[in-house]
Amino acid sequence: MTLLNVLTVPDPRLRIKAKPISVVDDKIRTLFDDMIETMYAEDGAGLAAPQVGIDMRLVVIDVSDSAHGSTVFKMANPEITWRSNEMSICNEGCLSVPELRAEVSRPKAIKMHYLDENGTLQHIESDDILATCIQHELDHLDGKLYIDYLSSLKRQMFINKVKRMKKYED
Ligand code: NI
Repeated sequence: MTLLNVLTVPDPRLRIKAKPISVVDDKIRTLFDDMIETMYAEDGAGLAAPQVGIDMRLVVIDVSDSAHGSTVFKMANPEITWRSNEMSICNEGCLSVPELRAEVSRPKAIKMHYLDENGTLQHIESDDILATCIQHELDHLDGKLYIDYLSSLKRQMFINKVKRMKKYED
């Protein structure tokens, strides 16, 4: 497996609308595994392909806890088909906006479907942390980041902090 380089804001590759994949093959399965290894190495709960510079609608999610067990989701061409009117607020973070967090309000419950690593269509209904995580990761596929839900002032502050952080690292 290979560790992938996670892009951070304001990298323009985080703003692409990623393309659907045509078939889940060995190449995609390897990519899923690399993304999962990268997600664990960076201590994240989810990772979307555009975050590692890959223009494909692929997402991996691990919200392992007592309620969800130790399921790791590998999702190709995921799509949300229903969102509740009821909202919930969650304190979100993102590997592309490292070391920062902010509260974001999103629909509390969703229904969605995706192709798993075998190319089988799977359906999920969730009304908890998994629903939040799915919405956050699927936003990445459309070039959207959680900081887009914050005020423009706060968003710019976050981007500037990450830029400064990266400068010290280089
Ligand atoms: Ni993210």
